[in-house]
Amino acid sequence: MSHAEPPDWTLLWAQMLQVRAAPHSATGPTGWLRADPKQGWCLTAPCSPASAELFSFYKPVLDARLAPARVGSPPWVLAQLGQSLDGCIATASGDSHFVTGAASLLHLHRLRALCDAVLVGAGTVAADDPQLTTRRVSGPNAVRVVLDPAARLDGRARLFHDAAAATLWLCDRRHAGQARARAAGGAVEVLAVEGLLGPADPADPADPPEGPDLTRVLAALAARGVRVLLVEGGGVTVSRCLAAGVLDRLHLVVAPLIIGSGRRGLQHTGPALLADCLRPPARQLALGDDLLWDLDLDLRGTAARPALPG
Ligand SMILES: NC(=O)c1ccc[n+]([C@@H]2O[C@H](COP(=O)([O-])OP(=O)(O)OC[C@H]3O[C@@H](n4cnc5c(N)ncnc54)[C@H](OP(=O)(O)O)[C@@H]3O)[C@@H](O)[C@H]2O)c1
Repeated sequence: MSHAEPPDWTLLWAQMLQVRAAPHSATGPTGWLRADPKQGWCLTAPCSPASAELFSFYKPVLDARLAPARVGSPPWVLAQLGQSLDGCIATASGDSHFVTGAASLLHLHRLRALCDAVLVGAGTVAADDPQLTTRRVSGPNAVRVVLDPAARLDGRARLFHDAAAATLWLCDRRHAGQARARAAGGAVEVLAVEGLLGPADPADPADPPEGPDLTRVLAALAARGVRVLLVEGGGVTVSRCLAAGVLDRLHLVVAPLIIGSGRRGLQHTGPALLADCLRPPARQLALGDDLLWDLDLDLRGTAARPALPG
């Protein structure tokens, strides 16, 4: 299948970027988009069915900005993974370029353009040396966030030096000094988060903890003005977000290939019974030969309810 965009998509995308930039100044009719107090952003113009369908998959990201900003409220969080039919996001050696096809990469870049920040785990930075910028579509770069609680990265990754977008190296306060020393001369800010790795008391059974305290990650990003966050991998990081119940939405893009003994995508411990498994509302969209599963999680019950400012 072709990954060509519908002919009228370029015009609609430009209007979506305007809404992303100034959601609250655009509550009346803005071209083809209108914000409705109950429905969120709605299409008002007769665009092609293909563009309307595509729009519907990005509408939740735009709607997330309509909720009134509240001091201390965490960002709305969407995670995305590109995986094989057998649930792998890379080969065992870490090769992931590319699991999914061109249409799925376009989709990923659209998500980057619509979100305030894009977060990846340290394992992804070590394996891929990613740029995480918006290159395949028009739109702004998101703030790049590297979640590296114990500052295990050596600081040589491209995104710490290229100054292509604002970049945060997010560590537990105990390890921030190491990160700052390695970041010297780079184009990255080390964001030290208190208690990210739990209590410092070695006698405490919770130390070392299972993973970083993700509520503290979200609080630190909210304090930096991040309202809409994209978690772009890898499998460990997305799985931890899922297990911690901080995801509002999950985009799983499944490509028609079988990797075998590769790196897992989702890998959290599930319940014993199928009846207790997560069965979120789901819909699909063909992205070239891949299939996007759009899962509405809202596990925190805090999904942005469309609401217009007073
Ligand atoms: N297909 C996709 O959509 C996609 C997206 C992103 C990444 N990937 C692939 O996924 C793989 C990485 O994902 P992941 O789940 O392993 O990790 P991740 O979620 O990116 O990062 C967290 C994991 O990395 C570990 N880690 C920390 N510092 C590290 C270092 N310097 N070197 C290596 N690992 C380090 C962490 O261990 P501790 O918790 O012990 O610190 C933790 O297990 C790569 O192969 C990447 O190519 C695929």
